[in-house]
Amino acid sequence: MTLPVVFIMISNHFPNTFAHQMNWMILVAIILIGATVRHFFNLKNKGHLNIWILPIATAAIFALIFVTKPASTVSNSPDKVSFGTEHIPFALVRTILDQRCLSCHSATPTDDVFRIAPKGIMFDSDKKIQSLASLIKTQTVTTIAMPLGNKTGITPEERIILGRWIEEGASLE
Ligand code: HEC
Repeated sequence: MTLPVVFIMISNHFPNTFAHQMNWMILVAIILIGATVRHFFNLKNKGHLNIWILPIATAAIFALIFVTKPASTVSNSPDKVSFGTEHIPFALVRTILDQRCLSCHSATPTDDVFRIAPKGIMFDSDKKIQSLASLIKTQTVTTIAMPLGNKTGITPEERIILGRWIEEGASLE
């Protein structure tokens, strides 16, 4: 269990594992692969060198990475939003971020846990939002890591709106 436990401790940085629909399966796979690698070393320490175990474990890790690769929710569900090809106004994006993100990501957070903006990420100014557009997409659209634990109750439609705005070029118009 050593290697899986190390991974679990740092897993909050890997939203494509814990925020995945099949997160428990991913955890099981990581435990099995970690135990397999450990088994290789246990055998090796006893003087039995099994040359097959490590390549198999490596192939399994790559297969897992491929299977859990985030698929963009925007391109997956173009029909869910009634905006069609209409331009997404920045004012709408601003409202979504104000409601769903600023309780943590602001110079003066109102969240009961996060008293300082996590990782220094703040969405107080329009220019700042624009410069962070690609990070917003990774965290909120491509993966559903943010808002953390969806504490602020963002809807799937709002995620799609954010993604569409960024795909359109993240303009402040
Ligand atoms: C309940 C508090 C909370 C809310 C609400 C929240 N976040 Fe976060 N956010 C965090 C925490 C905590 C981290 C640091 C996570 C880490 O250490 O990997 C973070 C990190 C981030 C990062 C940086 C990720 C990185 O690894 O560089 C971005 C970008 C981000 N959040 C965007 C958003 C967006 C966009 C929203 C709203 C849709 C949002 N967050 C809502 C708590 C929150």
